[in-house]
Amino acid sequence: MKGYSENYWAKRAKQYNKTNWVKNNSFIDAFIGMIPNNHYPNILEVGIGTGAVAEKVSERIGPLTGIDISQEMIDKINHDGITPIVANAHNLPFEDESFELIYMRNVIHYIDDPKKVFSEIYRCLKPGGQFLFSQVVPPDDSISKEYDWLVGRDIHYPTKREILGLFSSFHSVKQDDFVLEKQSIMNWLNNTCQNEDEKATIIERHRATSGAYRLLSNYEDASGDILVDIKHLMILAQK
Ligand SMILES: C[S@@+](CC[C@H](N)C(=O)[O-])C[C@H]1O[C@@H](n2cnc3c(N)ncnc32)[C@H](O)[C@@H]1O
Repeated sequence: MKGYSENYWAKRAKQYNKTNWVKNNSFIDAFIGMIPNNHYPNILEVGIGTGAVAEKVSERIGPLTGIDISQEMIDKINHDGITPIVANAHNLPFEDESFELIYMRNVIHYIDDPKKVFSEIYRCLKPGGQFLFSQVVPPDDSISKEYDWLVGRDIHYPTKREILGLFSSFHSVKQDDFVLEKQSIMNWLNNTCQNEDEKATIIERHRATSGAYRLLSNYEDASGDILVDIKHLMILAQK
């Protein structure tokens, strides 16, 4: 187990929407913009969290079901077009071939077995159905180790290569990067750290980063903050 169970998310739920990237409209627009049409009778979000993406999908495309392991995260959702269910992505509680569209944003770095989650998503998609995916990734695969160390949470951020490997059963893959520029590390830490020691360690590590990381992330030491570009890999695939 990675230790990022429902208890971890119960603690993060209160602050979650205050983290800048979560409700960033340009990011959500770019992500949803990859969906090729707007006729999907059955839509599922895996790891729906507080419903930041789901609110827009339900308004622009149609009603949807969302699963998440955390009751506290989905308790933040209050929207007619969204049916939230507490469930584990490793065992989706749906029949085979139930959905025309499944999507998932920034979940796989928290789960134990990404391959199993991808096979569950594949199983629940109708033939020809679409899977839209987004994941924060290191600015370049070559600095993956440093990136994991820098975040300091015993999390492995999957590289682009690892992610593409998870799509081996799918076809018609289309992909794009979305870079959130000049993201405040202090905003992220203030809303995600469990204690002051964790915050101090992560700041210290950022200040000790390599020239390669600094160049790739447009690192900027601002007064009382550190600003970096954060890269998200977005992929649209078909069953
Ligand atoms: C970083 S949040 C992303 C939330 C949402 N997708 C978004 O983009 O705002 C990760 C979410 O994954 C959920 N999660 C983690 N492990 C899970 C699992 N095994 N099954 C279902 N959800 C899980 C967490 O509870 C949390 O809500």
